[in-house]
Amino acid sequence: MERQKPEGKFVVFEGVGGSGKTTQIKEADKYLKEKGCEVIVTREPGGVEASEIIRNLIFKLKSEGVANADHQMALFFASRKIWLDTLVKPAVEKGKVVLSDRFDTSTNAYQGYGEGGNKDTIERFSKIIGDGFTPDAVILLQVSAKVAMERKSDKEGDPFDSENSEYFQRVVDGYDDMAKNRWRGIKWYVVDGEKSVDEVSKAINAILDKVLEKK
Ligand SMILES: Nc1ncnc2c1ncn2[C@@H]1O[C@H](COP(=O)(O)OP(=O)(O)OP(=O)(O)O)[C@@H](O)[C@H]1O
Ligand SMILES: [Mg+2]
Repeated sequence: MERQKPEGKFVVFEGVGGSGKTTQIKEADKYLKEKGCEVIVTREPGGVEASEIIRNLIFKLKSEGVANADHQMALFFASRKIWLDTLVKPAVEKGKVVLSDRFDTSTNAYQGYGEGGNKDTIERFSKIIGDGFTPDAVILLQVSAKVAMERKSDKEGDPFDSENSEYFQRVVDGYDDMAKNRWRGIKWYVVDGEKSVDEVSKAINAILDKVLEKK
């Protein structure tokens, strides 16, 4: 008898720049592989060639100050549509666990709350582009704006990391608001990102266990 294919999962890591997403995705990748899962680690915007080109374009236009929040938003969704159709959805359909560094949740936090773009438009675009496909979990690494700014290492080429503390605060508050109101009806898991890397990782592993149990 043919064994049933395991059901894939789409898990998104969220949080302001410096909250520990990249650090924790590496830990989660290791943990899930040890459990025997097939894991794909990817990022937004980007993850596939065409979307990485759009990522560079967004960063360039943002740095030059020639794309407002709504213009950035339109480009983020173009990048996202290609990435969802060519990488994420096919992988989940094949039973893989996709771990993504950011998703449309970031567009709402940054272009919506951070930059004052139209949050209603962002939500409508998210629904259209996702076409019924939503994350199985969004893991929000909660840190204060102060801690985030202390941790960030002025990564080259990311103009969103170079914003001021008021901007960081709006993004942090935006994430809290979205988690509280379960933005887009997504299952949000909030983790204290100010704890040690090991403690945060343990909390995330427990969440991953729960998400993988769900069919
Ligand atoms: N729990 C932690 N405690 C202390 N330092 C941490 C913790 N997690 C990550 N860091 C450090 O903070 C910095 C930022 O972490 P990381 O790059 O993982 O954040 P990020 O959310 O991916 O940021 P960005 O959105 O800018 O890519 C790194 O130097 C990392 O080593
Ligand atoms: Mg990162």
